[in-house]
Amino acid sequence: MRTETPQPIRLANYRPPAFLVDTIELDFDLKPSATRVRAKLALRRNGEHAEPLVLNGERLTPISVAVDGRTLGEDERTIDAEFLTVPNVPDAFVLETEVEIDPAANKALDGLYMSGGRFCTQCEAEGFRKITWFPDRPDVLARYTVRMTADKGFQRLLSNGNLMESGETADGRHFAVWNDPFPKPCYLFALVAGELDVLEDSLVTMSGRKVDLRIYVDPGMAGRAAYAMDALKRSMKWDEEAFGREYDLDLFMIVAVRDFNFGAMENKGLNIFNSSLLLADPATATDFDYERIESVVAHEYFHNWTGDRITCRDWFQLCLKEGLTVFRDQSFSADMRGEAVQRIKDVKALRARQFSEDQGPLAHPVRPSSYLKIDNFYTATIYEKGAEVIRMLKTLIGPDAFRKGMDLYFERWDGHATTVEAFIDCFAEASGRDLSAFFAWYEQAGTPRIDIKSRYDAAARTLELDLTQTNPATPGQPNKKPLPVPVRIGLLDGDGRTIAFDRDGQATDETVVVLDAAKTTVRLTGVDREPVLSALRGFSAPVVLTTDAEPKDRYVQLAADPDLFNRWEAGQDLARELMLARAAGRPDEVNEERYADAVGRALADQAADPAFKALLLTLPTESDLALARQPADPAAIHAAREALRARLALHLEEELKRLHTGLQGVGEFSPDAAEAGRRALRNTALEVLAANPHAETVERARGHYEAAGNMTDAMGGLSALMSIGGEAFENALADFYERWKSEPLVIDKWFALQARDPSEGALGRVLGLTAHPAFDQKNPNRLRALVGTFAAGNPARFHDPSGAGYTFLADQILAVDAFNPMTAARLLEPLGGWRRYTPELGARMRGELERIVAREGLSKNVYELASRALADD
Ligand code: TRP
Ligand code: ZN
Repeated sequence: MRTETPQPIRLANYRPPAFLVDTIELDFDLKPSATRVRAKLALRRNGEHAEPLVLNGERLTPISVAVDGRTLGEDERTIDAEFLTVPNVPDAFVLETEVEIDPAANKALDGLYMSGGRFCTQCEAEGFRKITWFPDRPDVLARYTVRMTADKGFQRLLSNGNLMESGETADGRHFAVWNDPFPKPCYLFALVAGELDVLEDSLVTMSGRKVDLRIYVDPGMAGRAAYAMDALKRSMKWDEEAFGREYDLDLFMIVAVRDFNFGAMENKGLNIFNSSLLLADPATATDFDYERIESVVAHEYFHNWTGDRITCRDWFQLCLKEGLTVFRDQSFSADMRGEAVQRIKDVKALRARQFSEDQGPLAHPVRPSSYLKIDNFYTATIYEKGAEVIRMLKTLIGPDAFRKGMDLYFERWDGHATTVEAFIDCFAEASGRDLSAFFAWYEQAGTPRIDIKSRYDAAARTLELDLTQTNPATPGQPNKKPLPVPVRIGLLDGDGRTIAFDRDGQATDETVVVLDAAKTTVRLTGVDREPVLSALRGFSAPVVLTTDAEPKDRYVQLAADPDLFNRWEAGQDLARELMLARAAGRPDEVNEERYADAVGRALADQAADPAFKALLLTLPTESDLALARQPADPAAIHAAREALRARLALHLEEELKRLHTGLQGVGEFSPDAAEAGRRALRNTALEVLAANPHAETVERARGHYEAAGNMTDAMGGLSALMSIGGEAFENALADFYERWKSEPLVIDKWFALQARDPSEGALGRVLGLTAHPAFDQKNPNRLRALVGTFAAGNPARFHDPSGAGYTFLADQILAVDAFNPMTAARLLEPLGGWRRYTPELGARMRGELERIVAREGLSKNVYELASRALADD
């Protein structure tokens, strides 16, 4: 057991930095196991206090420390595991330090490390302190000059900003000097050195400046960067058009690396990407990969303004850059791929990741007020709910005031580190509105429950809506206040036609009701027919909605709601109710048939987008169902979902076969949204057909796999075969491995697919795969493909009644924690929801959490999450 409890960092204790750094000159002598880092900092006291100089520094081997050119004796400074302290320093001075570090031994992938024989860095949030001594906090902005020297085998020498100088050294090595003219916090520093191929292009910005664009990848892979390059250019243009933001340096670089803890990182002028989110070609990447690459390239690029030019004062303000940047990348993707389909996908992801977080012991506000390890707060709440909050802000004040507020924010805060309050102030000013109540969305955790009851008075042609909100308690926040919730509303008649109405004397066919108290009644007049209510259109707020609508209303919506989000949502609601009834032992066969009929009609709608139909045909996931009713019984949920899928397969067999045959592609592969939508519908049709596995289906799935001309279809075929199981599947799986064994990104898919095996043997299969020669705990992509996917994406088998799935996950977490705490902690979440499951399962999950927190030498990262998961407040 741990002897001391680590102490949290609190927002309330924020103090401005005691010293500022105007410039930093870094000099790297790069050697894999012994890199020397010399740093020269121009420091100046910030304020009156005669405080000592305290700089962060971890895992640094000290060589020397000098102030204004004089080397300090050991009695003039102290160095411990976390800090360099110099008690007596002048008000302004130059600090020169030299340290040695060991990048080859760094398996935490934080700071300077080796990946695939190359040097690379990851400094957000607190990795820079593993490179040199520095005030490692985002509100210290400095100008960087970086010199690096390495053996010539490390062909490319890259850092932020502009290349100033490069050449050979006397001893036959080479060097480069980079300068970044924009002051930045140290978390945006980056360095890469190694053998890389480059894809080059350029773009002319709105003011007519030419920017060179370079994407660096593994040798031989430059062709696979073409899609990312295209996405980058579209992102740059889009930010000019949508937000008036122009790129600022003459060079923009992206580097792909294989060993990376997250998706990608927005280092100024030198983004670093997990190669899984950068490299794509039709043979090795799925449509989903293309979609993710497009959005992550955009996300990191958009950070140049929302993150780099304007950064966070402290890490509690993380959503200031992340929520806003996700909002921006979602808006970009909506423009690229269609608003409704994008919105549905974003909401699915929000519900899967953020709603589950919000309903468990790890719930926290969009702006938290304390943490142990900031790495643990790169969560769906900060990112995805953070984006929802901005979206609501735009809905509430309107698009024009929103744009004005953004302009004001860029103008006022460019070059600074700031806060969420300062951001919201810009919108209050731009809109002339009091946004103080809105601010609670940042401070209050939990998902609001909204209920709507409707009363239609035919004689008075009036519809009254009673809206109520309740805000469930979350850890540390037992009592909540009502939030301002924008609820977008429209009305349909029984035939699905829009009904116009009056609100406050204004004729309209859609309105936004702002529910800003626990209860409100809204009266809509001029409603000339009995209406079906279409509420929370476009998912206008991140809430759980219930209404008194009857199933027949949902069928009207599923057939005809002009708001495509709600059309999809109606189908999901119907399916969810049917599956939950079945899981509870009350199957409703009559309505299952009715539902299948309605889905069939929706599929036959020639006007609808295939991508949308694919979403319509996909049943809510098992995890979604587990959240909807508790205590959750994953085995019963799995059986219920399989039964409804089989019902669809039987009932719609002819239609699904027709889709599967008719939607075959012709001509060359294109990753565009229309073609991806076609493939999605075709693969989903096959996936549903596979729920009714007779010989013809097996043949169809096998033929699909064998004929696949791209990775999307190959994976579609494989996963249909897996859902049937048996020899055809095992053969295809072996064939796939043989074909792709030298392609790491494809082999990740091979592992991830098997982690989702729905059969009883899944846990044994997964355990067996941990001994496969291609399994590698030290590579986060591989680890997540197998272990992460099994725990989060295969609930029926993870929640094995024996508890063996939990033990497996806990063993993996403990093993990985020894060298990569950040990634170990990110695997913990599936255990965090233990209170939502049946008592037997919950107890076993809790048991594993207890085993984890008791482990000697556990990292702060894992300790924080596991102990919060167990806490009973
Ligand atoms: N700021 C990055 C993004 O959202 C993500 C990030 C945070 C990250 N911490 C990281 C990436 C650590 C890699 C490692 O764009
Ligand atoms: Zn980001």
